[in-house]
Amino acid sequence: MNVSEAITNRISVRAYLDKPISKDIITSILDTARWAPSGTNTQPWKVIVVQGKTKDAITKGFLDAQKNGEKPSPDYQYYPEVWVEPFKARRFQCGMDLYKALDIGRENKDKRIKAALDNYRFFGAPVTLFFFIDKIMGKGSWFDMGMFYQSIMLTAREYGLGSCPQASTSDYPDVVKGILAVPENFDLICGLSLGYPDDSKPVNQYRTRREEVESFTTWAN
Ligand SMILES: Cc1cc2nc3c(=O)[nH]c(=O)nc-3n(C[C@H](O)[C@H](O)[C@H](O)COP(=O)(O)O)c2cc1C
Repeated sequence: MNVSEAITNRISVRAYLDKPISKDIITSILDTARWAPSGTNTQPWKVIVVQGKTKDAITKGFLDAQKNGEKPSPDYQYYPEVWVEPFKARRFQCGMDLYKALDIGRENKDKRIKAALDNYRFFGAPVTLFFFIDKIMGKGSWFDMGMFYQSIMLTAREYGLGSCPQASTSDYPDVVKGILAVPENFDLICGLSLGYPDDSKPVNQYRTRREEVESFTTWAN
């Protein structure tokens, strides 16, 4: 698999086989991804590999928080408070395409809530990675983190693994930091679920759309 194939074949995987990933494979993926670039080579990433009982405890913590009516309180604001075009339409389309793949109608609120809560179950993935960054670091280091994160998703393809980046798993940072004993000076950025894709599930068979190159590129000669 070449780099272009890894990039264009990667999708967000939201159904997994009940098959563990060996520690050697996870280590090899991280061993490759650590070569991602970072400003002045600061390598600001910190990762915790979560599986088994610890993963189940985090799922329970998330679901309990949600059931108790606790409002999500992530360490940072991912999305704008007020959506404007063109982002609003793209976001809407993204949701529509996902619900269609899950065969969930517009009016079926219960199924939509269940689908959203599946995020907290990591879509059945055997492994999830949590990414943290020292609060002292600036915006640039978050950019570095994104490159590291994508490097993991792409390297995972080499091993036949799928992944799903999940901002939703940073909804309740206190749950994650409490269970994983992460010091307060770290921000929880995101989770990344990892596992062997269940290709028989329609949710893994649709592709999201992309704008054409001309729509986001201008040439200044
Ligand atoms: C940082 C980040 C956070 C995301 N968070 C979620 C999430 O919480 N739940 C989810 O189902 N998908 C999540 N996604 C997946 C996006 O919806 C997905 O990347 C986008 O629709 C493009 O589809 P593709 O990944 O299949 O190409 C996230 C993606 C990124 C990059």
